[in-house]
Amino acid sequence: MLQRIPPARSVSGSITLPGDKSISHRYAMIASIAQGDSRIRNYSTGADCHSTLNAMRALGVSVEEDGTEVTIRGRGLDGLRAPTADLDAGNSGSTIRMLSGILAAQPFPTRIGGDESLSRRPMARIIEPLSRMGASISARDGRFPPLEIHGARLQPIDYTLPVPSAQVKTCVLYAGLYGEGETTVREPIRSRDHTEIALREFGADLRVAGKTIALAGRPTLTGRDLVVPSDLSSAAFFIVAALLVAGSRLVIRGVGLNPTRSTLLDFLAGMGASIRITEVESRNGELAGELLVTSSRVRGGAIEKDTTAALIDEIPVLAVLGAASEDGLTIRDAGELRIKETDRIATVIENLRRMGVQAEELPDGLAIPGRQRFHAARLDSFGDHRIAMAFAIAALCADGESAIDGAEAASVSFPEFFETLRRITGH
Ligand code: S3P
Repeated sequence: MLQRIPPARSVSGSITLPGDKSISHRYAMIASIAQGDSRIRNYSTGADCHSTLNAMRALGVSVEEDGTEVTIRGRGLDGLRAPTADLDAGNSGSTIRMLSGILAAQPFPTRIGGDESLSRRPMARIIEPLSRMGASISARDGRFPPLEIHGARLQPIDYTLPVPSAQVKTCVLYAGLYGEGETTVREPIRSRDHTEIALREFGADLRVAGKTIALAGRPTLTGRDLVVPSDLSSAAFFIVAALLVAGSRLVIRGVGLNPTRSTLLDFLAGMGASIRITEVESRNGELAGELLVTSSRVRGGAIEKDTTAALIDEIPVLAVLGAASEDGLTIRDAGELRIKETDRIATVIENLRRMGVQAEELPDGLAIPGRQRFHAARLDSFGDHRIAMAFAIAALCADGESAIDGAEAASVSFPEFFETLRRITGH
């Protein structure tokens, strides 16, 4: 789909965004292996989270959807059934990596794969710990999907993550639910902690000390009523839009503010962005609140080390902001960006160049000089949802109408993105 985007005069109004993608996946998976029913409100509308729901259905779980409300009839830790066909994770790295932790403990074999992009994403990071716990997993070339998982009675593990990845952490913790004894996961850098919060919420016995998580195996998980906060990573696109377009004033309601995700807001505020947070509340252990964003001149700066890991999903849209900032933006330690849905260092640079914006490609990041202007251009999502949305925001600041090929990729996390964008830009 070719999406045309004219420049915006302002970005204004009050919006509510779909449920958080990371939290939706986790609630759906844990609810499926809990005992009793769970009702999940504001479940993500993105295709990725529906790949998770369909995989759970294929494993014998009853999942009913009524708009964004999902009811899951949990089958208990040992209640999943062998699927009659391969499981399809679609474009979703979270689905394949996190669910594999549960599949590794099942008494039946499963095959799980996905689309072309997912089939190029590395799986050794989950195969290694799950094999150490006793599962037997084969993969294309030893490391790519599809995975063929032969489950086993898993042994608990004390595992230090070699890469900072919440997906891998979650995979090992899910497998640890099935081990007889305590599983420990040690993180090099603290990653998003939605799994820890959700497991506790469902009744698991879990202790967190710094970057170490200890989980007791074979807990009784109990179905719950849950509300998913709106996705801060989706809000990031509109936050940057409101900062960039002069005369903007945007309210975003009910956004997830979990401290392991909200580094984005600290980083932007540190650059001089005007973002006010009000109405903060805690639901199911997750913080949410309302944001008021007004256009601001931002200074620019550097994203590196732990900050890179905390902002990893927001880097494409922050790169756009960096080009318009006073001092520019340098992003380092971002090698993980090369193995996301696309090589996001390459796809960001390519689209920036098409808009006449200079950017230097670094092996592990990008260097973007500030005070640059965006020229209208024909852009490409390269099939990556965050690239489609980041460059829709760049297009709002261009000197004429731009167009994005493959814009439908946005629906992987945010099907209503272009409709919402039209509403707040008055197009
Ligand atoms: C996610 C973790 C991150 C992030 C992804 C969602 C999660 O991936 O990029 O969009 O929900 O745990 P990694 O675990 O590969 O860092």
